[in-house]
Amino acid sequence: MRKGFFALILAAGKGTRFKSGTIKVLLPMLGKSMLSLVLDCAFKLRPEKVYVVVGSQKEGVIKEAPSGKVEFINQQKQLGTAHAVRAAKDALNRGKDKDVLIINGDLPLMTPETLRPLLALHRKERNSLTFLSAELEDPSGFGRIVQVGDKIKVIEEREATASQRRIKEINAGVYVFKIKDLLEALPKVSNKNKKGEYYLTDVTEILSQAGKKIGVHKTRNTGDLIGVNSRYELAKAIGDLRDRKIKALTEKGVTVYDPGTTWIDLDVKIGPETIIYSSVIIEGKSVVGSECRLYPFVHIIDSKIGNRVKILSSTMIEESVIEDEAQVGPFTHFRPKTVIKSKAKVGNFVEMKNTIFGKKSKAGHLTYLGDCEVKEEVNVGAGTITCNYDGKKKYKTFIEAGVFIGSGTELVAPLKVGKKAYIGAGSTITKNVAPGSLAVARSKQVERQGKDPRKKGK
Ligand code: UD1
Ligand code: CA
Repeated sequence: MRKGFFALILAAGKGTRFKSGTIKVLLPMLGKSMLSLVLDCAFKLRPEKVYVVVGSQKEGVIKEAPSGKVEFINQQKQLGTAHAVRAAKDALNRGKDKDVLIINGDLPLMTPETLRPLLALHRKERNSLTFLSAELEDPSGFGRIVQVGDKIKVIEEREATASQRRIKEINAGVYVFKIKDLLEALPKVSNKNKKGEYYLTDVTEILSQAGKKIGVHKTRNTGDLIGVNSRYELAKAIGDLRDRKIKALTEKGVTVYDPGTTWIDLDVKIGPETIIYSSVIIEGKSVVGSECRLYPFVHIIDSKIGNRVKILSSTMIEESVIEDEAQVGPFTHFRPKTVIKSKAKVGNFVEMKNTIFGKKSKAGHLTYLGDCEVKEEVNVGAGTITCNYDGKKKYKTFIEAGVFIGSGTELVAPLKVGKKAYIGAGSTITKNVAPGSLAVARSKQVERQGKDPRKKGK
């Protein structure tokens, strides 16, 4: 039977180069934190246990992990990557006959496809240490791999000589160790270097000098290796994740006209034959059905869109539901808790909040519906407004099926408009309207001949 292994993620570094109050592994990347991306990758390799070394902002880090599946280890002071591993000594001691896969917490693009061959090589060669490397055109920022005879070491860029810096083979920051050998080597790591830190990479030389077997898995998947050390690298890594997400969606039948301006969070799901025009943003845990059309500048956050829905340009949808075959936009704003039932139509400059808008109902222009329940086949005229707030409390408006609301109507809540009632344009409705009746609430038009105020005094 295959021997189990532990996974250990190093996530205690403060990320001083980010100039941020948030530690770097918690920074968001298309709706997920850097740490949760690394955790997702680790879990897919099915380790027996997953440990995360954390330092400052421990509470925030813990929130990012699937509950109960990860054990956290505290590294009080951040004195280097070897020091971080040493903080996990007790946990490692529990698996002395096993291996540990160590992953730097700032590798959000890392994939199981890249790490599986690393683990396989380690087992096949029965190595003491096997680490991930790559040949890079521009190796700057990475530790370099230096091989002399049968001895091998990793030298950090800041410690490297000019000729060592020309080496293009780099250390990616992922290692598989025999736990027993790692625990023996760790106390021998010193901090007598330019940064005054304990480098995990020094363990390579220590094990090599001790005659232990070291393997290197050189990957071609260089796109997985971005170590996010600065905000610029964060931006680049987010761009790469975006490309991966869009590629995956296109493989499932989604058409994306302009990947360069389209931002779709990693957890978003979209059905086949949906077409996405340029400059569309879909965030959070949104789900979009199949055969939809999302026109330019649509912004969707944590919402559920059904099948064959048309969302016209410049529409914003937050924490809402749009059911099958509805059409919304352009310039529509759905605030949280809005449900647009199937085949309904909502048009220009309409805002809704906490509102259920019935099947086949229409609100074509310039309308605000807040805290409202509208049944099926209601026609809401242009400029209709629910007055749902008296400065202290919010009140509900109920509009039954088949109601016709004339343009420019104010509906002062709490209010009920009965089935098939008809409200005359320009009304301010303050009392319930009975089913089937016509309600008009506006002052009568007055006409007086010869009273044109412009002609006053002439
Ligand atoms: C590290 C490697 C370098 C490699 C590069 C790949 C070392 C000494 N160097 O450099 O060879 O090419 O990654 O990306 O390991 N951390 C802690 N506690 C600490 C310090 C760091 O948990 O005390 C964590 C950080 O949160 C980070 C990871 O360890 O996730 C790596 O640390 P970082 O400072 O980014 O190392 P690099 O300089 O990038
Ligand atoms: Ca790094």
